[in-house]
Amino acid sequence: MNKNLSYLTKSFEELGIQIESLRNLNEGLESTILIGYSLEEKKEVAIKIPKEIIFNNDNDQNFSAMSLYTQEYRLLRLLKQMSFPVPEVYHFDSSNKVPFIIMELLKDVSTPTKEDFVSIGRLTRTLHSYKAPELNLVAMERFTDINELILHRLYKRFNIIADFGYSEGTLPPISLMSSSINHIEGEKCLLHMDIRPQNILKKTDNDFLFTDWSNALIGYPALEIARLQEYGEFFCEFMEGYGELTKIDKLPMLIYRLDTAIMLSVVFLSEEPNPIMANTQLKRVSSILKEIKKEL
Ligand SMILES: Nc1ncnc2c1ncn2[C@@H]1O[C@H](COP(=O)(O)OP(=O)(O)O)[C@@H](O)[C@H]1O
Ligand SMILES: [Mg+2]
Repeated sequence: MNKNLSYLTKSFEELGIQIESLRNLNEGLESTILIGYSLEEKKEVAIKIPKEIIFNNDNDQNFSAMSLYTQEYRLLRLLKQMSFPVPEVYHFDSSNKVPFIIMELLKDVSTPTKEDFVSIGRLTRTLHSYKAPELNLVAMERFTDINELILHRLYKRFNIIADFGYSEGTLPPISLMSSSINHIEGEKCLLHMDIRPQNILKKTDNDFLFTDWSNALIGYPALEIARLQEYGEFFCEFMEGYGELTKIDKLPMLIYRLDTAIMLSVVFLSEEPNPIMANTQLKRVSSILKEIKKEL
């Protein structure tokens, strides 16, 4: 059970959530989703509560639950206004040290299939067509320039995989990488950056809700596409729905793909240790590094 739950019980009661109706629905790495009956909404609702007050892991340091939940609330509200499919928020609570969000509950959701990724690709294209919102996003780590952020976290996380013993490849000097990435054309937009079946709730065929905006960035669409390409799952179907990507040079695309391969290596070395998956990801890092060096 989430250790923050007992702390929040009084707040839930004050908001008309029937305590005896509370039960666990699901969880991710950072949050627990509870089901509760809301006297105000007169129906069951989903309550998202953080597992920690400060999230600290080898990929991300010192991200506060308060800042992540404030961001999630603002993005869910903004996207809803724009008719982008996200769960409806009923209440965001930031009055205690543990924030929480009460939102529309999707029961009996099924996991999006390979075929569903065509629609998910189409929806992602819509997301990328919106003007970038003026919001400070947690994962931007106070950078305003997306490529500066990507280089910053590449070198930082590379040191972590090196500390875990990775020695097959090295990163080229930052000046070379920086000049290779700095002339991407096109508009920046809001990127979700974690489009996986776990974060897309399927109501019915062709009816999906995008959740979990913790990794969101303001950047070029190619960065989201590079992430999906490295995730690998259903990428062809995704692109079938997404359509053509604005042309981008090979080198910046490789650097964007490296960002995901290194992030996943850190996940499997440290956050959710899995030696087989870690090994696969580290091989991806080596192979992308080789391709980058050929292009430089
Ligand atoms: N409104 C909701 N209704 C039903 N299930 C949900 C809802 N929001 C999230 N979930 C489920 O709970 C899981 C964890 O929530 P998520 O917001 O992704 O947390 P985390 O940031 O920890 O990954 C999701 O993968 C999803 O399956
Ligand atoms: Mg999630």
